[in-house]
Amino acid sequence: MKLKNFKRESLIPLPVTLISTVSEDGIRNIAPYSCVMPILRPFDLVCVASAKMRDTYVNIDNTEEFVINMPGVDLVDAVIPTSSHVPFDVNEFELANLKERPSKKVKAPGIEGCYAWMECKLHSMHEETYDGFPYLLILGKVVHLEVDDDIYNPEDGSWDVEKAKPLMMTESNQGMHFCTVNDIGKFEPFGAMFEDGKDPLSWMYEKKED
Ligand SMILES: Cc1cc2nc3c(=O)[nH]c(=O)nc-3n(C[C@H](O)[C@H](O)[C@H](O)COP(=O)(O)O)c2cc1C
Repeated sequence: MKLKNFKRESLIPLPVTLISTVSEDGIRNIAPYSCVMPILRPFDLVCVASAKMRDTYVNIDNTEEFVINMPGVDLVDAVIPTSSHVPFDVNEFELANLKERPSKKVKAPGIEGCYAWMECKLHSMHEETYDGFPYLLILGKVVHLEVDDDIYNPEDGSWDVEKAKPLMMTESNQGMHFCTVNDIGKFEPFGAMFEDGKDPLSWMYEKKED
């Protein structure tokens, strides 16, 4: 069936991340963001597509910091409270009944109960307009990355998606359908992509974690 072109994102299963920031006055903010993608495998950059009318954007613009929190499905009820348009001075941790998790390298706290936390410093901000609608591509550099020990295997860097149950969504015309990921039991090494069977980036994974 031919679909309207703008519905492209409804066919891409999207992660539901929760981005936490603080205002210049220290007010805590959280917003769900699904238009989040890592930029290539060797880098430590993450790109967030954001409308301009977002407290999250204002906070990142002012403080140059943010945390991308990765929730599991058990945090699905935090999505609507944190996506509601509330005044700038509302602490959205309190609004959504979420507990702060102190960050190591940025002032914005993470969210307790998520399975991973990406503390980011602003790398660059690209302001664009599409059909008169202003939006931003916000590039963050991950300065501290943590994962819940219960789901992570430090031997090979794999993590247990069945246990973490990452919160994801697809969309229909009426709204968001929340889902998660299943391991289908198929593995291929990165090296399989290369003629010599060797992953040119393997040395990066051999370095000890900080
Ligand atoms: C699941 C979900 C994903 C969303 N993803 C994005 C996104 O990628 N970019 C964006 O600008 N807004 C996104 N939104 C909308 C914002 O979360 C929403 O407008 C929120 O109120 C912004 O909060 P803030 O003004 O405190 O930043 C999403 C909303 C939901 C529910």
